[in-house]
Amino acid sequence: MLEAHELTLTYTTGETRTNAVDGVNLAVNEAEFVGIVGPSGSGKSSLLYLLAGLRLPTGGRVRFRAQEISNLSGNDRAALRQQHFGFIFQQHFLIEYLTALENVLVAIARPTAEDRARAKELLESLGLSDHLRKHPHQLSGGQRQRVAAARAIMHRPDVVFADEPTASLDHRTAFELMEVIRKMRTSQQTALVVVTHDPSILSGADRIVHMWDGRMRSQPGEPAVNGAGGQVPNGVEARTVLVSPATLRAIRRQRQQQSPPDDPAAPGDPTQP
Ligand SMILES: Nc1ncnc2c1ncn2[C@@H]1O[C@H](COP(=O)(O)OP(=O)(O)O)[C@@H](O)[C@H]1O
Ligand SMILES: [Mg+2]
Repeated sequence: MLEAHELTLTYTTGETRTNAVDGVNLAVNEAEFVGIVGPSGSGKSSLLYLLAGLRLPTGGRVRFRAQEISNLSGNDRAALRQQHFGFIFQQHFLIEYLTALENVLVAIARPTAEDRARAKELLESLGLSDHLRKHPHQLSGGQRQRVAAARAIMHRPDVVFADEPTASLDHRTAFELMEVIRKMRTSQQTALVVVTHDPSILSGADRIVHMWDGRMRSQPGEPAVNGAGGQVPNGVEARTVLVSPATLRAIRRQRQQQSPPDDPAAPGDPTQP
């Protein structure tokens, strides 16, 4: 379904050229769970951004189903991402002025009552029933990451890309989040591409590929270094990765017109304007 052919990404900074991704070939099948591990700086994030169409390669190509991603315009790439892909980053990128429920709904341009019910169900299935109307700062790190996971799958994407999704979580919470991600794959037939320097979170993966100096290796590399990772690429605005500016504007307008009708019985949120 997703295919990389001789994929290369070279960053040029002044005189320095870095081959962050260096001739990678990879195919991800429908509903497959692929882990990408390797030390910090080995090119994992760069590879993920290329596969997800967040960056364009300097060489080679990426195909999603019949479409060659590099041939699409920026707008078409954004539309493809929003329709078919979901993202979970190390930072959760939740929108502070929206509640947990509303943050999940941003994945949908014009949410219907059915969508709201589904968003609620997703959050409930992630153990967040009591937190639907809380804002991100009122949630723990693990809860925020679960909201981000719900947002990533809300629109039933074909592929979820996760870049160090557990890096800011303690071990138990990380394990729980991965349980959730694995479950949504089983229930929705979503393919998973998970980048991590911590292979222990990849249990259940169909395949684990190792990155080393921008290349894919079949043998494990050196022990992983604790890398920061999980950032969105420089110059890519985080929110537009997850939701288009037009959707954000529509959400703001809608909020100005009405108070959220999701759960009239719930107590008002004192932090809401
Ligand atoms: N925006 C950038 N400009 C220049 N070099 C970069 C940039 N992003 C990453 N690199 C370099 O590319 C290599 C791979 O980085 P990255 O894909 O972030 O690795 P990982 O996610 O495995 O830590 C590293 O050497 C890194 O310094
Ligand atoms: Mg990284």
